[in-house]
Parts: sequence; C-alpha cells; structure tokens
Amino acid sequence: MARKPPQKKDRPLFPGPARGKAVHIVPSLLSADFADLAGALTAVRQAGCRWIHLDIMDGHFVPNLTFGPPVVSAIRKRTKDIFFDAHLMIENPRQYVKPFVAAGAQLITFHVEAAQDDSTNLLRYIRRQGVQSGISLRPKTPVSDIDPHIESADLVLVMTVEPGFGGQKLIPNTLNKIRELVLLREERALSYLIQVDGGIDPETASLAVAAGSDVLVAGSAVFRGGRVKENVRNLRRALNSIR
Ligand code: DX5
Ligand code: ZN
Repeated sequence: MARKPPQKKDRPLFPGPARGKAVHIVPSLLSADFADLAGALTAVRQAGCRWIHLDIMDGHFVPNLTFGPPVVSAIRKRTKDIFFDAHLMIENPRQYVKPFVAAGAQLITFHVEAAQDDSTNLLRYIRRQGVQSGISLRPKTPVSDIDPHIESADLVLVMTVEPGFGGQKLIPNTLNKIRELVLLREERALSYLIQVDGGIDPETASLAVAAGSDVLVAGSAVFRGGRVKENVRNLRRALNSIR
C-alpha cells in the first residue's frame, strides 16, 4: 500500500466536516458583485459557508481576466474565519504560488495543463509554503494525466465546464472522472478531497455528490438574484433529499 506523504503539521485544515461526513458548498466569488466583495463575504458567512473559491484568470490559460494577489489580500483583511481557495487558471502557476499565499490563500490549486515543471514537484512546493495543495484538470484531460501526482495532492478539482467563465452548463461525462478518482483514492489509501467546479445547481449538485464529490463550487447558483442565503439553502436541501 502506498504511504501517505508527510504533512506539515501547521498547514491550515480544510474547514468543516471531514470527508464522507457532509458535502462542502463553496461559493465562487466570480459571480459576486466585484464592486462589493466585502458584502459578498458577509452574505456567504450568513449563509453558513466557511470556504470560498477565488477564480484567478490570466487571459492566457483562459481567455478571461479576473483579479490577483492585491484583491485577495484586500478581502483577507476583512475576514479571518473563511477558508480561501485559489483556483489558478493561469500559465506558469509556480511563479504565483508565493504571492497568493502571502495574500492569504490557504489552498492553491493549479491546472496540470499549465504546469511547466513536474506537477508532483509543484504540489510539494505548494505544501512547503504551509498551505494545502490542489491539482485540476480540464473537461477533456483524462485522469491518467494527474494519476502520477495525486499522492502529493490534498484536493483534486474536476472541472465540469471549460474553465474561464461562470454560468455554463455542466458537461455530464465529466462526472465519470469523479468516480475514477474515488476508486483511485480507495485503491491507494489516499485522502484527497474531490472538488467539482462548473454548472453546479440544485439538480447537478445531486449528480456530483452521487458520483462521489466532497466539495461543490457554485458561482451563479449561489449569487443569483443576490439571494445567497436562500440559494445555499436550496443547494443543501437538494443534497439532503439524496441522503
Ligand atoms: C469557471 C470557474 C468557476 C465558476 C463556476 O472557470 O472555475 O469557479 O465560478 O461558475 P458557475 O457555478 O456559475 O458555473
Ligand atoms: Zn473555479
């Protein structure tokens, strides 16, 4: 049986229940009002979420542009009790690990397609900065491309839409990758969380959880109409109905 990689003791833990106990609902700030990010944090906290997802886009790896470390640092100053998850949809992710950690990110996830150096090295480098490590794959990238690296990952992010934009529809065959990752985790006695991102709403949330996801990222389904509390409640209710 493969041995688990050493974990740095003082790295931040994922908040909330342990794997298998309950599913995390993680709002993506991409769909929030960028003119009022502090208000979005308050709304997210009031809805009972303690983990947010920050979509970092560079206009190269994906066609869209969002924000960088200064904005993350500014919102970090407004909250200490929410876990910050930075999803790097950028070229040359290694160059930006330290700036995002300094800004307050507690999980850094990069795309295997964008990693210039060996992904195992990059995951270990992220852990050495004292944060959690994540690896992601686009809808068309097979699990076999990340397979050699997952022992160094705290989280695997399965993109269920093409990265770059919110508000797209989930691509159904991406759910098979979640099932594959559940099996791999069991076979190798690993403990990474499986996160899904893209097109998650009350209906698809149930499908993703049935496939084995531990963490659901949702942007438009959480911020739609500015009714964050009600929208999160609807997502939770949909999940309760399948348990
Ligand atoms: C897309 C981003 C997602 C996005 C999801 O590239 O990675 O995190 O916010 O948005 P929805 O939930 O609207 O599909
Ligand atoms: Zn994302």
